[in-house]
Amino acid sequence: MSSAEDIISDVLSSPSVFKDKAKLYPEYLPQRLPHRENQLKSLANAFKNLITNPGESVQKVVLVGSYGTGKTVTSRVFGKTISSLASNSGIKLKYVHVNCYKARTLPQILHSIAKELGIYIPPRGLSTQEMMRAILDELDRRKLYTIIALDEFDYFVSSNPGSSSTYTLVRAYDDEPHRTKRINFIFIARSSQVLDLLEPATSTFFVKNIIRFPPYSSGELYDILSDRIPLAFHEGVIDDNVVRYIADLEGADKDGSGSARTALEILVRAGESADSEGRGYVTIEDVRKAHVIVKPELAMLQDTIEALGLHHLLLLLAIIKTLKDKGEGFVRIGDVEENYHMLCENFRQKKRKHTQVYTYIMDMRNMKIIQTKTSGKGFRGKSTLIGISNAPLDVLEKKVEELIENKLAGEAR
Ligand SMILES: Nc1ncnc2c1ncn2[C@@H]1O[C@H](COP(=O)(O)OP(=O)(O)OP(=O)(O)O)[C@@H](O)[C@H]1O
Ligand SMILES: [Mg+2]
Repeated sequence: MSSAEDIISDVLSSPSVFKDKAKLYPEYLPQRLPHRENQLKSLANAFKNLITNPGESVQKVVLVGSYGTGKTVTSRVFGKTISSLASNSGIKLKYVHVNCYKARTLPQILHSIAKELGIYIPPRGLSTQEMMRAILDELDRRKLYTIIALDEFDYFVSSNPGSSSTYTLVRAYDDEPHRTKRINFIFIARSSQVLDLLEPATSTFFVKNIIRFPPYSSGELYDILSDRIPLAFHEGVIDDNVVRYIADLEGADKDGSGSARTALEILVRAGESADSEGRGYVTIEDVRKAHVIVKPELAMLQDTIEALGLHHLLLLLAIIKTLKDKGEGFVRIGDVEENYHMLCENFRQKKRKHTQVYTYIMDMRNMKIIQTKTSGKGFRGKSTLIGISNAPLDVLEKKVEELIENKLAGEAR
Protein backbone atom coordinates (compact mmCIF):
# COMPACT_ATOMS: atom_id res chain seq x y z
CA MET A 1 0.00 0.00 0.00
CA SER A 2 1.35 3.46 -0.90
CA SER A 3 2.16 5.93 1.83
CA ALA A 4 0.28 9.19 2.10
CA GLU A 5 3.46 10.98 1.09
CA ASP A 6 3.81 8.86 -2.07
CA ILE A 7 0.23 9.49 -3.07
CA ILE A 8 0.43 13.22 -2.52
CA SER A 9 3.85 13.76 -4.04
CA ASP A 10 2.80 11.66 -7.04
CA VAL A 11 -0.06 14.04 -7.72
CA LEU A 12 2.08 17.10 -7.11
CA SER A 13 4.77 15.98 -9.52
CA SER A 14 2.48 14.66 -12.26
CA PRO A 15 2.53 16.87 -15.33
CA SER A 16 -0.42 19.12 -16.00
CA VAL A 17 -2.00 20.10 -19.30
CA PHE A 18 -2.00 23.67 -17.96
CA LYS A 19 0.89 26.03 -18.41
CA ASP A 20 -0.88 28.87 -16.57
CA LYS A 21 -4.46 28.17 -15.54
CA ALA A 22 -4.98 31.70 -14.20
CA LYS A 23 -5.06 32.96 -17.78
CA LEU A 24 -8.54 31.41 -17.99
CA TYR A 25 -9.91 33.05 -14.84
CA PRO A 26 -12.40 35.92 -14.94
CA GLU A 27 -9.91 38.29 -13.25
CA TYR A 28 -7.39 37.98 -16.07
CA LEU A 29 -7.33 40.92 -18.47
CA PRO A 30 -6.45 39.67 -21.95
CA GLN A 31 -4.43 41.72 -24.45
CA ARG A 32 -7.11 41.29 -27.10
CA LEU A 33 -10.87 41.03 -27.00
CA PRO A 34 -11.94 39.20 -30.15
CA HIS A 35 -15.38 40.33 -31.37
CA ARG A 36 -15.58 43.26 -29.02
CA GLU A 37 -13.67 45.63 -31.29
CA ASN A 38 -16.78 47.68 -32.05
CA GLN A 39 -17.70 48.02 -28.39
CA LEU A 40 -14.17 49.21 -27.59
CA LYS A 41 -14.41 51.68 -30.45
CA SER A 42 -17.75 53.00 -29.17
CA LEU A 43 -16.29 53.42 -25.71
CA ALA A 44 -13.32 55.28 -27.12
CA ASN A 45 -15.65 57.56 -29.06
CA ALA A 46 -17.78 58.21 -26.00
CA PHE A 47 -14.76 59.23 -23.92
CA LYS A 48 -12.73 60.94 -26.63
CA ASN A 49 -13.67 64.31 -25.17
CA LEU A 50 -11.89 63.39 -21.99
CA ILE A 51 -8.58 63.53 -23.81
CA THR A 52 -9.31 66.35 -26.25
CA ASN A 53 -11.20 68.64 -23.83
CA PRO A 54 -10.66 67.30 -20.34
CA GLY A 55 -13.04 68.65 -17.74
CA GLU A 56 -15.55 70.03 -20.19
CA SER A 57 -18.40 67.59 -19.64
CA VAL A 58 -19.46 64.47 -17.76
CA GLN A 59 -19.46 61.47 -20.09
CA LYS A 60 -21.80 58.56 -19.45
CA VAL A 61 -22.33 55.30 -21.25
CA VAL A 62 -24.33 52.17 -20.53
CA LEU A 63 -23.06 48.70 -21.40
CA VAL A 64 -25.87 46.19 -21.78
CA GLY A 65 -25.77 42.46 -22.46
CA SER A 66 -26.59 39.10 -20.92
CA TYR A 67 -24.18 37.14 -18.71
CA GLY A 68 -20.73 36.28 -19.92
CA THR A 69 -20.86 38.59 -22.93
CA GLY A 70 -17.71 40.48 -21.97
CA LYS A 71 -19.11 43.67 -20.41
CA THR A 72 -16.90 43.63 -17.32
CA VAL A 73 -13.72 42.62 -19.11
CA THR A 74 -14.26 45.15 -21.91
CA SER A 75 -14.86 47.94 -19.41
CA ARG A 76 -11.73 47.04 -17.43
CA VAL A 77 -9.53 46.69 -20.49
CA PHE A 78 -10.86 49.98 -21.81
CA GLY A 79 -10.29 51.73 -18.47
CA LYS A 80 -6.75 50.46 -18.13
CA THR A 81 -5.83 51.34 -21.71
CA ILE A 82 -7.36 54.81 -21.84
CA SER A 83 -5.75 55.73 -18.51
CA SER A 84 -2.31 54.91 -19.80
CA LEU A 85 -2.95 56.69 -23.12
CA ALA A 86 -4.18 59.74 -21.21
CA SER A 87 -1.05 59.76 -19.13
CA ASN A 88 1.00 59.87 -22.36
CA SER A 89 -0.88 63.09 -23.15
CA GLY A 90 -0.15 64.47 -19.71
CA ILE A 91 -3.69 63.89 -18.37
CA LYS A 92 -4.11 62.20 -15.02
CA LEU A 93 -6.98 59.75 -15.44
CA LYS A 94 -7.94 56.90 -13.13
CA TYR A 95 -10.41 54.13 -13.86
CA VAL A 96 -12.43 52.93 -10.86
CA HIS A 97 -14.48 49.74 -10.97
CA VAL A 98 -17.25 49.34 -8.40
CA ASN A 99 -19.39 46.23 -8.12
CA CYS A 100 -22.94 47.23 -7.14
CA TYR A 101 -23.70 43.70 -6.06
CA LYS A 102 -21.31 44.31 -3.20
CA ALA A 103 -21.98 48.03 -2.73
CA ARG A 104 -25.73 48.35 -3.00
CA THR A 105 -26.44 51.77 -1.55
CA LEU A 106 -25.19 55.18 -2.57
CA PRO A 107 -23.10 55.66 0.59
CA GLN A 108 -21.49 52.24 0.05
CA ILE A 109 -20.74 53.11 -3.56
CA LEU A 110 -19.24 56.46 -2.60
CA HIS A 111 -17.10 54.76 0.02
CA SER A 112 -15.82 52.25 -2.54
CA ILE A 113 -15.02 55.02 -5.00
CA ALA A 114 -13.17 57.00 -2.33
CA LYS A 115 -11.26 53.92 -1.24
CA GLU A 116 -10.18 53.07 -4.79
CA LEU A 117 -8.99 56.63 -5.24
CA GLY A 118 -7.23 56.62 -1.90
CA ILE A 119 -9.41 59.43 -0.60
CA TYR A 120 -10.26 59.35 3.08
CA ILE A 121 -13.87 59.93 4.05
CA PRO A 122 -15.04 59.31 7.60
CA PRO A 123 -16.95 56.03 7.90
CA ARG A 124 -20.07 57.78 9.15
CA GLY A 125 -21.55 61.17 9.86
CA LEU A 126 -21.45 62.61 6.33
CA SER A 127 -24.47 62.96 4.05
CA THR A 128 -24.11 61.59 0.54
CA GLN A 129 -23.88 65.17 -0.74
CA GLU A 130 -21.01 65.84 1.63
CA MET A 131 -19.26 62.63 0.63
CA MET A 132 -19.63 63.53 -3.01
CA ARG A 133 -18.21 66.98 -2.32
CA ALA A 134 -15.25 65.54 -0.43
CA ILE A 135 -14.44 63.35 -3.43
CA LEU A 136 -14.81 66.16 -5.97
CA ASP A 137 -12.67 68.54 -3.89
CA GLU A 138 -9.90 66.01 -3.57
CA LEU A 139 -10.01 65.28 -7.32
CA ASP A 140 -9.62 69.02 -7.96
CA ARG A 141 -6.73 69.20 -5.56
CA ARG A 142 -4.99 66.33 -7.35
CA LYS A 143 -6.03 67.49 -10.84
CA LEU A 144 -7.26 63.97 -11.39
CA TYR A 145 -10.00 62.78 -13.77
CA THR A 146 -11.90 59.53 -13.27
CA ILE A 147 -14.03 57.07 -15.13
CA ILE A 148 -16.21 55.27 -12.64
CA ALA A 149 -17.65 51.94 -13.77
CA LEU A 150 -20.69 50.83 -11.83
CA ASP A 151 -20.84 47.13 -12.61
CA GLU A 152 -23.96 45.01 -11.98
CA PHE A 153 -25.85 48.28 -11.88
CA ASP A 154 -29.14 46.27 -12.04
CA TYR A 155 -28.65 45.48 -8.34
CA PHE A 156 -28.26 49.12 -7.44
CA VAL A 157 -31.39 50.14 -9.31
CA SER A 158 -33.48 47.34 -7.86
CA SER A 159 -32.33 47.99 -4.28
CA ASN A 160 -32.83 51.74 -4.70
CA PRO A 161 -36.19 52.18 -6.37
CA GLY A 162 -36.83 55.57 -7.92
CA SER A 163 -33.88 57.42 -9.27
CA SER A 164 -32.84 59.92 -6.64
CA SER A 165 -29.67 58.01 -5.76
CA THR A 166 -28.62 57.71 -9.36
CA TYR A 167 -29.50 61.36 -9.77
CA THR A 168 -27.15 62.43 -6.98
CA LEU A 169 -24.40 60.55 -8.73
CA VAL A 170 -24.80 61.74 -12.30
CA ARG A 171 -25.89 65.30 -11.53
CA ALA A 172 -23.08 66.08 -9.14
CA TYR A 173 -22.15 69.20 -11.07
CA ASP A 174 -25.63 70.64 -11.55
CA ASP A 175 -25.20 73.31 -8.90
CA GLU A 176 -21.80 74.34 -10.21
CA PRO A 177 -22.02 74.20 -14.00
CA HIS A 178 -18.65 75.90 -14.50
CA ARG A 179 -16.64 73.62 -12.32
CA THR A 180 -14.16 71.30 -14.06
CA LYS A 181 -15.89 67.96 -14.61
CA ARG A 182 -13.72 65.25 -13.13
CA ILE A 183 -16.03 62.24 -12.97
CA ASN A 184 -17.43 60.16 -15.80
CA PHE A 185 -19.48 57.00 -15.75
CA ILE A 186 -19.78 53.58 -17.28
CA PHE A 187 -22.96 51.83 -16.14
CA ILE A 188 -22.97 48.08 -16.69
CA ALA A 189 -26.20 46.08 -16.67
CA ARG A 190 -27.59 42.78 -17.88
CA SER A 191 -30.74 44.31 -19.25
CA SER A 192 -31.66 47.69 -20.63
CA GLN A 193 -34.82 47.41 -18.56
CA VAL A 194 -32.93 49.03 -15.71
CA LEU A 195 -33.25 52.24 -17.66
CA ASP A 196 -37.04 51.97 -17.55
CA LEU A 197 -36.89 51.72 -13.79
CA LEU A 198 -35.29 55.12 -13.58
CA GLU A 199 -37.35 58.27 -13.86
CA PRO A 200 -37.50 59.70 -17.37
CA ALA A 201 -35.30 62.65 -16.36
CA THR A 202 -32.53 60.25 -15.42
CA SER A 203 -33.07 57.67 -18.10
CA THR A 204 -32.86 60.17 -20.98
CA PHE A 205 -29.38 60.80 -19.68
CA PHE A 206 -28.42 57.32 -20.74
CA VAL A 207 -30.25 56.32 -23.87
CA LYS A 208 -27.92 58.19 -26.19
CA ASN A 209 -24.96 56.07 -25.26
CA ILE A 210 -26.02 52.48 -24.97
CA ILE A 211 -23.42 49.97 -26.10
CA ARG A 212 -24.82 46.50 -26.62
CA PHE A 213 -23.05 43.20 -26.00
CA PRO A 214 -24.88 40.49 -27.96
CA PRO A 215 -24.47 36.84 -26.94
CA TYR A 216 -21.54 35.20 -28.73
CA SER A 217 -22.03 32.84 -31.65
CA SER A 218 -20.13 29.57 -31.63
CA GLY A 219 -17.67 30.94 -34.19
CA GLU A 220 -16.97 33.91 -31.93
CA LEU A 221 -16.52 31.69 -28.88
CA TYR A 222 -14.14 29.56 -30.89
CA ASP A 223 -12.01 32.64 -31.60
CA ILE A 224 -12.08 33.72 -27.95
CA LEU A 225 -11.08 30.26 -26.71
CA SER A 226 -8.41 29.84 -29.38
CA ASP A 227 -6.89 33.16 -28.42
CA ARG A 228 -6.62 32.12 -24.78
CA ILE A 229 -5.50 28.50 -25.17
CA PRO A 230 -1.82 29.08 -26.07
CA LEU A 231 -1.46 31.22 -22.93
CA ALA A 232 -3.07 28.72 -20.58
CA PHE A 233 -2.22 25.27 -21.97
CA HIS A 234 0.94 23.51 -23.02
CA GLU A 235 1.32 23.15 -26.75
CA GLY A 236 -0.55 20.30 -28.39
CA VAL A 237 -2.57 19.14 -25.39
CA ILE A 238 -5.89 20.34 -26.71
CA ASP A 239 -7.14 19.48 -30.15
CA ASP A 240 -8.95 21.92 -32.38
CA ASN A 241 -11.97 19.57 -32.42
CA VAL A 242 -12.29 19.86 -28.67
CA VAL A 243 -12.26 23.66 -28.82
CA ARG A 244 -14.85 23.63 -31.56
CA TYR A 245 -16.97 21.24 -29.52
CA ILE A 246 -17.03 23.62 -26.52
CA ALA A 247 -17.78 26.59 -28.77
CA ASP A 248 -20.71 24.69 -30.29
CA LEU A 249 -22.11 23.82 -26.85
CA GLU A 250 -22.37 27.46 -25.84
CA GLY A 251 -22.82 29.35 -29.13
CA ALA A 252 -26.01 31.42 -29.21
CA ASP A 253 -26.59 30.33 -32.80
CA LYS A 254 -26.54 26.70 -31.62
CA ASP A 255 -29.12 27.17 -28.85
CA GLY A 256 -26.35 27.84 -26.32
CA SER A 257 -26.17 30.73 -23.87
CA GLY A 258 -23.62 32.72 -25.88
CA SER A 259 -21.57 33.15 -22.70
CA ALA A 260 -17.79 33.31 -22.87
CA ARG A 261 -17.71 32.81 -19.11
CA THR A 262 -19.39 29.40 -19.38
CA ALA A 263 -17.21 28.38 -22.32
CA LEU A 264 -14.02 29.29 -20.43
CA GLU A 265 -15.24 27.52 -17.31
CA ILE A 266 -15.91 24.35 -19.27
CA LEU A 267 -12.41 24.62 -20.73
CA VAL A 268 -10.87 24.90 -17.24
CA ARG A 269 -12.86 21.94 -15.91
CA ALA A 270 -12.08 19.84 -18.96
CA GLY A 271 -8.37 20.50 -18.41
CA GLU A 272 -8.76 19.54 -14.76
CA SER A 273 -10.51 16.35 -15.77
CA ALA A 274 -7.59 15.47 -18.07
CA ASP A 275 -5.16 16.23 -15.21
CA SER A 276 -7.08 14.12 -12.73
CA GLU A 277 -6.51 11.14 -14.98
CA GLY A 278 -2.92 12.16 -15.63
CA ARG A 279 -3.64 11.84 -19.32
CA GLY A 280 -1.68 14.79 -20.67
CA TYR A 281 -4.26 15.85 -23.25
CA VAL A 282 -7.90 16.96 -23.23
CA THR A 283 -10.64 14.84 -24.84
CA ILE A 284 -14.27 15.42 -25.74
CA GLU A 285 -15.24 13.12 -22.87
CA ASP A 286 -13.43 15.55 -20.52
CA VAL A 287 -15.65 18.27 -21.95
CA ARG A 288 -18.78 16.24 -21.31
CA LYS A 289 -17.76 15.77 -17.69
CA ALA A 290 -16.94 19.46 -17.39
CA HIS A 291 -20.25 20.41 -18.91
CA VAL A 292 -22.16 18.57 -16.21
CA ILE A 293 -20.11 20.21 -13.46
CA VAL A 294 -20.56 23.68 -14.90
CA LYS A 295 -24.25 23.13 -15.59
CA PRO A 296 -25.50 20.87 -12.81
CA GLU A 297 -29.06 21.14 -14.09
CA LEU A 298 -27.96 18.68 -16.75
CA ALA A 299 -27.93 15.97 -14.12
CA MET A 300 -31.70 16.08 -14.62
CA LEU A 301 -31.01 13.98 -17.68
CA GLN A 302 -31.00 10.94 -15.41
CA ASP A 303 -34.68 11.39 -14.64
CA THR A 304 -35.60 11.99 -18.25
CA ILE A 305 -34.04 8.78 -19.53
CA GLU A 306 -35.84 6.69 -16.94
CA ALA A 307 -39.07 7.49 -18.76
CA LEU A 308 -37.83 6.18 -22.13
CA GLY A 309 -39.24 3.08 -23.83
CA LEU A 310 -37.14 0.04 -24.76
CA HIS A 311 -36.28 1.03 -28.33
CA HIS A 312 -35.46 4.58 -27.37
CA LEU A 313 -33.06 3.13 -24.83
CA LEU A 314 -31.52 0.69 -27.31
CA LEU A 315 -31.00 3.51 -29.71
CA LEU A 316 -29.51 5.72 -27.01
CA LEU A 317 -27.13 2.92 -26.10
CA ALA A 318 -26.21 2.61 -29.77
CA ILE A 319 -25.48 6.34 -29.89
CA ILE A 320 -23.31 6.12 -26.77
CA LYS A 321 -21.35 3.16 -28.12
CA THR A 322 -20.82 4.78 -31.51
CA LEU A 323 -19.61 8.01 -29.87
CA LYS A 324 -17.22 6.06 -27.67
CA ASP A 325 -15.91 4.04 -30.61
CA LYS A 326 -15.24 7.07 -32.76
CA GLY A 327 -14.03 9.38 -29.98
CA GLU A 328 -15.71 12.28 -31.75
CA GLY A 329 -18.20 14.90 -30.67
CA PHE A 330 -20.75 13.83 -33.27
CA VAL A 331 -21.41 10.64 -35.26
CA ARG A 332 -23.48 9.81 -38.33
CA ILE A 333 -26.94 8.40 -37.99
CA GLY A 334 -25.95 5.53 -40.35
CA ASP A 335 -23.22 4.35 -37.98
CA VAL A 336 -25.60 4.59 -35.05
CA GLU A 337 -28.18 2.48 -36.87
CA GLU A 338 -25.63 -0.27 -37.52
CA ASN A 339 -24.88 -0.46 -33.82
CA TYR A 340 -28.59 -0.34 -33.05
CA HIS A 341 -29.20 -3.36 -35.29
CA MET A 342 -26.46 -5.25 -33.51
CA LEU A 343 -27.89 -4.42 -30.11
CA CYS A 344 -31.35 -5.54 -31.23
CA GLU A 345 -29.87 -8.89 -32.21
CA ASN A 346 -27.99 -9.21 -28.92
CA PHE A 347 -31.09 -8.48 -26.90
CA ARG A 348 -33.29 -10.51 -29.29
CA GLN A 349 -35.52 -7.61 -30.19
CA LYS A 350 -37.12 -6.92 -33.54
CA LYS A 351 -35.37 -3.89 -35.04
CA ARG A 352 -37.42 -0.85 -36.06
CA LYS A 353 -37.30 0.63 -39.56
CA HIS A 354 -35.26 3.69 -40.47
CA THR A 355 -38.20 6.13 -40.43
CA GLN A 356 -39.16 4.96 -36.95
CA VAL A 357 -35.55 5.21 -35.77
CA TYR A 358 -35.43 8.74 -37.10
CA THR A 359 -38.58 9.64 -35.12
CA TYR A 360 -37.04 8.22 -31.93
CA ILE A 361 -33.96 10.32 -32.51
CA MET A 362 -36.02 13.47 -32.92
CA ASP A 363 -37.94 12.57 -29.73
CA MET A 364 -34.71 12.35 -27.77
CA ARG A 365 -33.46 15.55 -29.32
CA ASN A 366 -36.62 17.34 -28.21
CA MET A 367 -36.12 15.96 -24.73
CA LYS A 368 -32.59 17.42 -24.87
CA ILE A 369 -31.03 14.03 -24.22
CA ILE A 370 -29.06 14.21 -27.46
CA GLN A 371 -28.10 16.94 -29.91
CA THR A 372 -28.38 16.72 -33.67
CA LYS A 373 -26.99 18.70 -36.54
CA THR A 374 -26.59 18.26 -40.27
CA SER A 375 -23.18 17.25 -41.48
CA GLY A 376 -21.10 20.05 -42.90
CA LYS A 377 -17.63 19.77 -44.31
CA GLY A 378 -15.56 16.77 -43.41
CA PHE A 379 -18.37 14.27 -44.03
CA ARG A 380 -19.35 13.04 -47.48
CA GLY A 381 -22.96 13.75 -48.48
CA LYS A 382 -25.54 15.27 -46.19
CA SER A 383 -26.35 13.28 -43.12
CA THR A 384 -27.80 13.74 -39.66
CA LEU A 385 -25.12 13.89 -37.00
CA ILE A 386 -25.81 12.98 -33.40
CA GLY A 387 -23.97 13.95 -30.23
CA ILE A 388 -24.37 13.80 -26.48
CA SER A 389 -22.93 16.63 -24.44
CA ASN A 390 -24.97 16.57 -21.28
CA ALA A 391 -23.39 13.62 -19.53
CA PRO A 392 -20.14 11.67 -19.44
CA LEU A 393 -20.67 8.70 -21.75
CA ASP A 394 -19.37 6.10 -19.28
CA VAL A 395 -21.87 7.08 -16.62
CA LEU A 396 -24.71 7.30 -19.09
CA GLU A 397 -23.86 3.95 -20.69
CA LYS A 398 -24.04 2.14 -17.39
CA LYS A 399 -27.33 3.76 -16.54
CA VAL A 400 -28.91 2.95 -19.93
CA GLU A 401 -27.73 -0.66 -19.82
CA GLU A 402 -29.24 -0.99 -16.38
CA LEU A 403 -32.56 0.42 -17.56
CA ILE A 404 -32.64 -1.90 -20.58
CA GLU A 405 -31.96 -4.93 -18.43
CA ASN A 406 -34.67 -3.93 -15.96
CA LYS A 407 -37.15 -3.50 -18.78
CA LEU A 408 -36.35 -6.89 -20.32
CA ALA A 409 -36.46 -8.60 -16.93
CA GLY A 410 -39.83 -6.97 -16.35
CA GLU A 411 -41.11 -8.33 -19.67
CA ALA A 412 -39.80 -11.81 -18.97
CA ARG A 413 -41.58 -11.94 -15.66
N1 LIG B 1 -14.32 39.10 -26.41
C1 LIG B 1 -13.69 38.47 -25.45
N2 LIG B 1 -12.39 38.12 -25.58
C2 LIG B 1 -11.74 37.46 -24.61
N3 LIG B 1 -12.29 37.09 -23.46
C3 LIG B 1 -13.59 37.39 -23.24
C4 LIG B 1 -14.34 38.10 -24.22
N4 LIG B 1 -15.60 38.26 -23.75
C5 LIG B 1 -15.64 37.70 -22.55
N5 LIG B 1 -14.42 37.17 -22.23
C6 LIG B 1 -14.09 36.43 -21.00
O1 LIG B 1 -15.26 35.74 -20.60
C7 LIG B 1 -15.46 35.85 -19.19
C8 LIG B 1 -16.76 36.55 -18.90
O2 LIG B 1 -16.71 37.89 -19.34
P1 LIG B 1 -17.27 39.09 -18.46
O3 LIG B 1 -17.02 38.81 -17.02
O4 LIG B 1 -16.75 40.35 -19.00
O5 LIG B 1 -18.85 38.95 -18.75
P2 LIG B 1 -20.02 39.93 -18.32
O6 LIG B 1 -20.68 40.39 -19.57
O7 LIG B 1 -19.50 40.95 -17.39
O8 LIG B 1 -21.02 38.92 -17.58
P3 LIG B 1 -21.94 39.18 -16.27
O9 LIG B 1 -23.12 39.96 -16.72
O10 LIG B 1 -22.33 37.80 -15.85
O11 LIG B 1 -21.10 39.89 -15.26
C9 LIG B 1 -14.24 36.56 -18.65
O12 LIG B 1 -13.30 35.59 -18.26
C10 LIG B 1 -13.72 37.34 -19.85
O13 LIG B 1 -12.33 37.53 -19.77
MG1 LIG C 1 -19.72 41.25 -15.35
